[in-house]
Amino acid sequence: MSVPAYLLDLLVCPDCRAPLGEAGATLTCSQCGRQFAVADGVPELLPAELAAGTPPDPAWQTWAGALDRLLEWRRRTWNGGETSQMYQRVVRGVQAEFVAHCQLARARGTLLDVGCGSADITAALGPECRYVGVDPLPLPSPGGPPMVRGVGERLPFREAAFDLVLTLETLDHCQSPPGTLAEILRVLKPGGALCVEQYVTAPGWRERLGRWWRGPSAPGRPAPADSPKVTLLDVPDLLTLLRPAFAEVVVGRATQGSHVFVAARGKRHGGSGT
Ligand SMILES: C[S@@+](CC[C@H](N)C(=O)[O-])C[C@H]1O[C@@H](n2cnc3c(N)ncnc32)[C@H](O)[C@@H]1O
Ligand SMILES: [Zn+2]
Repeated sequence: MSVPAYLLDLLVCPDCRAPLGEAGATLTCSQCGRQFAVADGVPELLPAELAAGTPPDPAWQTWAGALDRLLEWRRRTWNGGETSQMYQRVVRGVQAEFVAHCQLARARGTLLDVGCGSADITAALGPECRYVGVDPLPLPSPGGPPMVRGVGERLPFREAAFDLVLTLETLDHCQSPPGTLAEILRVLKPGGALCVEQYVTAPGWRERLGRWWRGPSAPGRPAPADSPKVTLLDVPDLLTLLRPAFAEVVVGRATQGSHVFVAARGKRHGGSGT
C-alpha cells in the first residue's frame, strides 16, 4: 500500500470532501470519481482549479505568482551557501523558541502542519504525536514524515481529524489567511489547539499606510508585487483573525522580535468551510 492506512483514513477529496479510496498507485474520490496521483509517497490533493495550468480566479493567479517567486527564492538562497546557513540558523532559533512556547515536545495525538515545507519541525516533536504535513510545494525526504500536496484554503482532510494544527511562516503565503483559518477550524477536533509561528511586520504600518489598509474583514495588506508572500501581517491582524475563532489566544514574541508565536485553544465554531 503506497499511502499508510491511518493517512488514507484522514484524507478527503479537495473538491467535494468525500472520502478517498486507493486503487493501485492512485487515490479515487468515492463521490466525484476524480483520481489523484501519489508521487514519491505524497498524495497530490490540490483542488481541480489549481491542479491544471493557470487558475481562473485572479486572486489565485496572484498566489501562484508569489509561489513561483518563493520557489525561485528557495533555489537562490537555500543552497548550502553562507546566506542559506545564516537563514537556517535564524529559522532554527525561532523554531526552538516556538517549540518551547507552545510546549510542542509534549504534543500528543494527530498533528497537522499547514505549509510544512520540508517538515523540519518534526525534529522537535515528541514521540506521542502522529505528524501529517500539507503544502502546495512539499519537500518530502525518503522515509521522512507523511506529507500531502494541497493548500490550506481547501484542506484535503476530514472534519475534526486533528488534535493539534501548526502553521509556521505560512499564513502570509496563503491566498487567503481567513480561508485557511476556516479550514483549520473545520479539521480541528473540538478540544484541539492551533499554534502559529509567524513573521510579522513592525507596528505602525497602519498609520503610515492610511487608506490602503484593507480593514478587519481582510486582515493584512497586500505584499509588494515582487514578494514571495501574498499578505503582510502584523500582530493586530493575527488577533483579528484568531480572537473570534478561539476562546483563548496567547501571544508570545521571539527574542529577535520579528516573529510571534500564538497558541489558540477552545474553538468557537467549526469554520465556514470556504
Ligand atoms: C516560508 S515557507 C515555511 C515552511 C515551513 N513551515 C517552515 O517553517 O520551514 C512557507 C510555506 O507555505 C507554503 N504555502 C504557500 N501557499 C500555501 C497555501 N495556500 N496553503 C498552505 N501552504 C502554503 C509554501 O509552499 C511554503 O512551503
Ligand atoms: Zn470528489
